[in-house]
Amino acid sequence: MAQELYDTARAIVADHRGILAADESTGTIKKRFDAIGLDSTEDNRRHYRQLLFTAPDMENSIGGVIMYDETIRQATDDGTPFAEVLASKGVVPGIKVDTGAQDQAGFPGEKITEGLDGLRGRLEEYRELGARFAKWRAVITIGDGIPSVGCIRANAHALARYAALCQEAGIVPIVEPEVLMDADNTIERCFDVTSRTLKWTFHELLVQRVDLRGALLKPNMVISGKGCSEQAPASRIAELTVECFLTHVPAAIPGIVFLSGGQSEVEATDNLNAINQVGGPWPLSFSYGRALQQAALATWNGDAANVESAQAVFAHRARMNALAAAGEWSAELEEQVAV
Ligand code: 13P
Repeated sequence: MAQELYDTARAIVADHRGILAADESTGTIKKRFDAIGLDSTEDNRRHYRQLLFTAPDMENSIGGVIMYDETIRQATDDGTPFAEVLASKGVVPGIKVDTGAQDQAGFPGEKITEGLDGLRGRLEEYRELGARFAKWRAVITIGDGIPSVGCIRANAHALARYAALCQEAGIVPIVEPEVLMDADNTIERCFDVTSRTLKWTFHELLVQRVDLRGALLKPNMVISGKGCSEQAPASRIAELTVECFLTHVPAAIPGIVFLSGGQSEVEATDNLNAINQVGGPWPLSFSYGRALQQAALATWNGDAANVESAQAVFAHRARMNALAAAGEWSAELEEQVAV
């Protein structure tokens, strides 16, 4: 069982591949569809995910796909379950298993992620449905006097208990402690908060006997807050991100897959590329939602006639990120191979 976990974790990030996060909850995908004026019906959601999962050549750049509960139960037009479609292309099917971040009692302005109750049974069912990895996202907010150690530790503990249950079920846990980039903080403050968050996360993972060789870390990059007047360049993001991770993340982790967190598509690629030019002992790859889907969703625009061009846009974006995961991306290259 342990060997299977190690093999799965390594396979997801092998050959500089990364992860497509297509696990938007029903509420979040509605927001994305609203932006293109499309009704968020179950069939529209199915058509959109089908477009992504069946995109030609996406498997060269994508090693795993995170689905939502509804999505892992859906199938292509010909009735093949999505998990089967992905697995047959060598892409590992994954599932989001947390039930969302709620206000943390006693900690104004801070969130705690829920979903541990009944998780053992849900994991068993998801494995039967084909999932071989899972995701749980903790949210850490930067603000006046926050994050508190009470919030960081509660979230780290929940992540560790989730990760232990996943490994028991033969599912690789993706551990996602996301420090949000929405505030006006400097990159140095992000460095400090990300460092504290990672320190407690790995402390709890080890206390809860999680085998790091069978888990992946999905963190934020160390980056300036969106509202900060001074935006650090990619070279500084890379320098501080790698320094932070070298200090707090054991080399036993088989991969670090960054979230995009609100960066634009090219920004997220550029920053990942810069991070890989500095490099570290782990594969440094991506697990992007918005930064892999924005242009593809706009190109599709809910119209069946646009499916092929939207698939080409998605495969191109994925390819650019796989190049960045190898540190081999450049802006010129992006233009040369643009679809
Ligand atoms: P973004 O890349 O859009 O931040 O989404 C990744 C994700 O799965 C966040 O939990």
